[in-house]
Amino acid sequence: MQEKLQAIVSETESALGSVEDMPGLEQLKASVLGGNGSLTVLMKSIASLPPEERPAFGQAVNKVKNHLAELFKNAVSDLNSAADAKALGEAVDVTLPPPGNYTGGLHPLTLATREVVSIFRAIGFTVAEATEVESEWFCFDALNTPEDHPARDEQDTLYFPAETRFGNVQGKADEAFVMRTHTSSVQIRTMMEEQPPIRVIAPGRCFRRDTVDATHSANFHQTEGLFVDRKVTIEDLKAVLDHFLRELFGKQVKTRLRPSFFPFTEPSFEVDLFSPNLGRLSNQWIEIMGCGMVDPAVFDQVGLDTGEWSGYAFGLGIERVAMMLHGIDDIRHFYQNDQRFLKQF
Ligand code: DAH
Repeated sequence: MQEKLQAIVSETESALGSVEDMPGLEQLKASVLGGNGSLTVLMKSIASLPPEERPAFGQAVNKVKNHLAELFKNAVSDLNSAADAKALGEAVDVTLPPPGNYTGGLHPLTLATREVVSIFRAIGFTVAEATEVESEWFCFDALNTPEDHPARDEQDTLYFPAETRFGNVQGKADEAFVMRTHTSSVQIRTMMEEQPPIRVIAPGRCFRRDTVDATHSANFHQTEGLFVDRKVTIEDLKAVLDHFLRELFGKQVKTRLRPSFFPFTEPSFEVDLFSPNLGRLSNQWIEIMGCGMVDPAVFDQVGLDTGEWSGYAFGLGIERVAMMLHGIDDIRHFYQNDQRFLKQF
């Protein structure tokens, strides 16, 4: 009798393991506990036992019955949870907490901006910001950029209709407004608000009427730098930029200043970088940023005495920095919000 009871338990346990749905479970339950079920039939055989063995046998059968009832109850709730999980897999329930522990992250352009800014903050620069809408005077005239300069062409700059005005952006005269084409306008806003000495870094979004391709985007990011003090020299400029580029790209980089032209700096330079470990761009001179000594014509525009004050300025593209740091070959990756790209940072 005991062996028969034990056999019913182990058969039921192993059959439960392969039950796939509620009808299967009901069927199994009936075949054990139902009117003609194996346990019920065994229980009825109690009549054939000698009376003194009956109580012990009855107790043993009841114990097994309770144990099996418990197993069936658990199996029902397992089946229900499995069905829920399956239904949720098909239709996403947006009210559930996200699976895994991915909590989002910072965009590679945010990370690059923060890295650049933190290097300059460590040597005494503070962060300056201004609006992305800018008046023509701040974006061009005050930066010594003549009316007929190609940057001011409607093919390069996004202009607002002549009569458009913005409550939070003060222009200088009765002039048109633009989406700023560079962060250099923040130089002017800073010098009109603060007295020198000035050391600012101005990261921000810029806009140009560019056709989008692997290296151009109509919306991109720059960081401007401005240093104004007494007796500032090109040596000061070169020392700070060397420090910055070595912090960013590694101690082994070499730099050089190459003569160039910008309306707001005189002399002006392009900064080139040479590094043994920049992937595809290793071991060749690569242009990284523009810079120069603040043109006295700019100081005149903001009312600073050119006999007393001198300074340097520089500007660099954040996308370019991020692309060089991570070996990214197409600027469009930054704006497509593809998780496969973004998750790498
Ligand atoms: N504004 C320039 C551009 O968008 C970059 C630049 C060059 C900024 C030289 C500067 C500078 O401050 O000195 O191309």
